[in-house]
Amino acid sequence: MNATFTNLRTVEDAASPGIRDCWLGDERSLAESVEIFEVGPRDGLQNEPNMIPASRKIALVDCLSRVGFRRIEVASFVSPKWVPQMADGAEVLAGMARAAGVSYAALVPNKRGFERAVAAGADEIAVFGSASEGFSRANTNRSVAESRAEFRPIIRASLVQGIPVRGYVSCVIECPCDGPTSPQQAAEEAASLLEMGCYEVSLGDTIGRGVPETVDAMLDAVLDRVPVDRLAGHFHDTGGQALANVEAALEKGVRTFDSAAGGLGGCPYAPGAAGNLATEVVANRLEELGFETGLDLKCLNECAAMATKMRSGNV
Ligand code: HMG
Ligand code: MG
Repeated sequence: MNATFTNLRTVEDAASPGIRDCWLGDERSLAESVEIFEVGPRDGLQNEPNMIPASRKIALVDCLSRVGFRRIEVASFVSPKWVPQMADGAEVLAGMARAAGVSYAALVPNKRGFERAVAAGADEIAVFGSASEGFSRANTNRSVAESRAEFRPIIRASLVQGIPVRGYVSCVIECPCDGPTSPQQAAEEAASLLEMGCYEVSLGDTIGRGVPETVDAMLDAVLDRVPVDRLAGHFHDTGGQALANVEAALEKGVRTFDSAAGGLGGCPYAPGAAGNLATEVVANRLEELGFETGLDLKCLNECAAMATKMRSGNV
């Protein structure tokens, strides 16, 4: 037992600052944890107009590896014709220093991308579907149904090799092409990815148009189909509501959130998709709310500073 507790004799003792600290410490150790899934090196850097050298991406990943994340998305293996910023994914995976206990993820759009990701040594892969037809076509030149048909054998092959698969659903709130997304469309795509074998589905407010009310409605529909512990929230901050949306999702029981150090990012095929929610912002807020993130916030700030310097104009 902590020595301070042995001195606890009266109500006044209990109210003393030392005891309060002791209790807070105890509460912290019992606090519920929330996991932050760092997506900056992928979702952050894919949208930077400047071509960032692989060495700088590797330095960012290495810094992030010291923060305490359990999962970091470090690359995508999409067509370099579509997203040239991510063409050096294999170099990044080969050059970074792997930290024990961290799963390094890569985004893949098709069989070719899956094979490249496996050859590069990704610990897990992520496939990405869309709740809306317009964005599915704009982002991958496929309908929602065609995407699902493409993902099913990839997910199967990945699981056979023992490589876990995460799924993203984009445009769960609104689509830059089709307008507002119905909560049922988001639920349908999330359930489909789960049924195909994804271990977790990340719900993307790709263009950051969500507000707590629309996030609530979307989650109500998704939670009818998918257990809460298989979900993550992925909020872009275009409308400045990402943090409020995280809090709305926390209320519904979601305990995993994607974010990018320094608030980098966006999707090149989603006009208006500004930065991701900044990891340092959400980590601090979660700690204020009493959740444990397991992150070293000082080290995280160093990563955020490094990421911010990579923004266009600062390279
Ligand atoms: P396509 O043009 O229909 O397909 O693109 P294709 O098969 O004709 O390929 C075009 C060229 O790319 C060909 O080269 C292929 O070989 C090559 P060519 O024959 O002309 O010389 N190619 C590849 N090369 C390397 N690796 C590959 C690969 N695939 C094709 N994997 C495709 C279809 C899906 C490939 C394309 O649309 C694509 O790559 N899209 C990805 C777009 C993207 O990366 N968007 C951002 C990620 S999603 C996101 O950010 C949202 C998220 O964060 C969640 C949220 O915020 O909501 C996840
Ligand atoms: Mg995103």
